[in-house]
Amino acid sequence: MSTEASSPHKGSFPRHVAIIMDGNGRWAEDRKLPRLEGHRVGAQSVHTIVTASREMNLEALTLYAFSSQNWGRPADEVKGLMELLKEYILEQRKEIMENDIKLFAIGDLNRLPAMVRTPLEELMEDSKNHKSMTLTLALSYSGKDSIVNAAKALCEKSVNGDINVQDISQDDFETCLPTHGLPPLDFVIRTSGEIRISNFLLWESAYAELYFSQVMWPDFRRQQLETALQEYQRRKRRFGLVGSQVESGGDLAPKDKNNELKGENSWP
Ligand code: FPP
Repeated sequence: MSTEASSPHKGSFPRHVAIIMDGNGRWAEDRKLPRLEGHRVGAQSVHTIVTASREMNLEALTLYAFSSQNWGRPADEVKGLMELLKEYILEQRKEIMENDIKLFAIGDLNRLPAMVRTPLEELMEDSKNHKSMTLTLALSYSGKDSIVNAAKALCEKSVNGDINVQDISQDDFETCLPTHGLPPLDFVIRTSGEIRISNFLLWESAYAELYFSQVMWPDFRRQQLETALQEYQRRKRRFGLVGSQVESGGDLAPKDKNNELKGENSWP
């Protein structure tokens, strides 16, 4: 993940936030509604959180919208989720283009039905030069698969004589991950009170701060995002060092140092 882009904020505002949007089903069941209704209202939360993140000048927002395990859900739920994804991409196209948002996707996109993949790829192409925020949708995504795919890519490079196995570094590995090009992951939010990572951004979350909200995703709106970001700002990130080293801008790993010291961010 690159560390190049700068941000207008001061302090410890995160550059890259990722969200595990959990609790749609329980939200609906609590109201005696079909599960799909929870996903439908969850899609409204997606719109609200994307808009709020853009207004806060967040550089990158990554949303776990559909895991590779989610294909195993009942067929009508999978179909309903695909419909919602298609609607989201079509309905938000104008807003994404007008707000200089770059749409990106990670995961096994080939498994998506054409009604989702085609407008998704078109919008990714049309928005690829946008600079204000990168919105990444994790679709048919598996963190373990991403790591295996990176290992395969490095094996191929080695077989082709493009890389020496002994020389493979963390940077080489990261170059093969689908998140390569995004800022380092600072903050992972999971809604609904569940406390696990569920195969999301496994490599990328190595030094991310984790935040677990009791709020179900359909109720997670701007206020809840602000509360989460205020908590992030109270965290002291040490990257394996001791506090005094971090305070003096000491010997942080280059990328993390860049991230920490860049920190001219201010939470509005
Ligand atoms: C987890 O809740 C959520 C999902 C598997 C899908 C998330 C999808 C959306 C928020 C809507 C569509 C997405 C976009 C980007 C428009 P769950 O169903 O596992 O909830 P539960 O744990 O309460 O059953």
